[in-house]
Amino acid sequence: MIVVLDFGGQYNQLIARRIRDLGVYSELLPYNTSVDKIRELAPKGIVFSGGPASVYEENAPKVDPAIYELGLPIMGICYGMQLMAYQLDGKVEKSSKREYGKADVEFTEGCYLVQGLERKQTVWMSHGDHVSVQPAGFVVDASTEHAPVAAMSHPEKKFFAVQFHPEVRHSVYGNEMIRNFLFNVCGCEGNWSMETFIEDTIREIRDQVGDRKVLCALSGGVDSSVVAILIHKAIGPQLTCMFIDHGLLRKGEAESVMETFVGKFDMKVVKIDARERFLSKLRGVSDPEQKRKIIGNEFIYVFQEESAKFDDFDFLAQGTLYTDIIESGTATAQTIKSHHNVGGLPEDMKFKLVEPLKALFKDEVRKVGEECGLPPEIVWRQPFPGPGLAIRVLGEVTEEKLHIVRESDAILRDEIAKAGLNREIWQYFTALPNMKSVGVMGDGRTYSHTVGIRAVTSIDGMTADWARIPYDVLERISNRIVNEVENVNRVVYDITSKPPATIEWE
Ligand code: XMP
Repeated sequence: MIVVLDFGGQYNQLIARRIRDLGVYSELLPYNTSVDKIRELAPKGIVFSGGPASVYEENAPKVDPAIYELGLPIMGICYGMQLMAYQLDGKVEKSSKREYGKADVEFTEGCYLVQGLERKQTVWMSHGDHVSVQPAGFVVDASTEHAPVAAMSHPEKKFFAVQFHPEVRHSVYGNEMIRNFLFNVCGCEGNWSMETFIEDTIREIRDQVGDRKVLCALSGGVDSSVVAILIHKAIGPQLTCMFIDHGLLRKGEAESVMETFVGKFDMKVVKIDARERFLSKLRGVSDPEQKRKIIGNEFIYVFQEESAKFDDFDFLAQGTLYTDIIESGTATAQTIKSHHNVGGLPEDMKFKLVEPLKALFKDEVRKVGEECGLPPEIVWRQPFPGPGLAIRVLGEVTEEKLHIVRESDAILRDEIAKAGLNREIWQYFTALPNMKSVGVMGDGRTYSHTVGIRAVTSIDGMTADWARIPYDVLERISNRIVNEVENVNRVVYDITSKPPATIEWE
């Protein structure tokens, strides 16, 4: 295992991801994780991530210096390198010019990180400060015009540091450098895979749960389905799934959930019709964060009430993913949105949580689902937010607006499938921007809703690009929506990437 300490940089989750893709288990932990905790995890190495701070700032995040005495290899990236230099008595300075983008570096001969690689390389830089003097015992492995110490190392202590970002694809040999660190420096074996993840997770679930009972919040989406199947594999009949129909699902979804899990997998699923309850709680609420909190809280309350009726449960299983945790704000990352699975939990919750996917990215969850034998229609179902259509209806949620989103979304899904684009486009849905405008239908003036189409390509939902749906497909979708869905006279297509936008509207 490799521990990645998080200093709040935007690419940090990618570091853990690249390491896992190389067959080594890795987790992103807060920068202030204690030395004892790190010792307990017994990693083979540590990576210090990048981050937006400057090491000289008063509250700049710093590691406990005892980390340098653990005898473990350390790789510092960007801020992580500056921190290493600062804490080990080197010198860090503000650059006269911020270096951002591609840069050419030349490594010295014999640098461990570039063993077997070209010494001249293109890398991705993004920094304002730089190391001007390396700490005692370190050698300079590379420099650029704006960074006199672009890479440095202390080979005996196995400390390596680079000013650029090897985790970003634009750093041409970045992945190979990470590989060299993992295998040549840390001595990792690279035998971690989804199969080992499943075996380990099943064992962990059994250890955590013992002979007690688990209630699983099944929504029918990929995440909760994979959680349910993993827990089912681990503890079988001790698991009951509860499917809450909060009235914020897509068209036909409630029916298909029951059909799949009860019909195909013979699992114990209790369905609760809570449509009215959620809608009444949402009445008059238009702030998206407040909607999320209300739905998250209500979800847990419904679970508590319903589960108390028929059995005694100690654990609640949730399909929380890595991205949910990161975007809800770690010790250093800013809160972008409070995710349903994370931010919405009430403080007086009675359950303990089982969250077996919380270290995974979406595409990794799909791999687990496939390994566990879930059918492709579930494994490849596009992501759907926990708060459902409530966040795709901007402003106050009403039955009428939900109807428009649900029907227009069904048309969009149908046409995308007919065009054979459903695997290609990562996520596609309609949203209601809560905006009416004038139109003309027949001979009459209309004053009706606008429907927004959002369709993106992505790998893990952290970044996304708008999908290039062919015009004729868009035309069919638009025609059908204005003709078949009442009270809609305009359809628009969102052509923003993430960042700067997010995938959902809300
Ligand atoms: P954003 O809108 O943040 O969405 O770019 C990134 C991905 O996450 C999904 N999403 C959620 N998934 N609970 C979830 O399980 C949530 O509360 C939630 N909010 C957004 C979103 O659909 C997209 O795939």
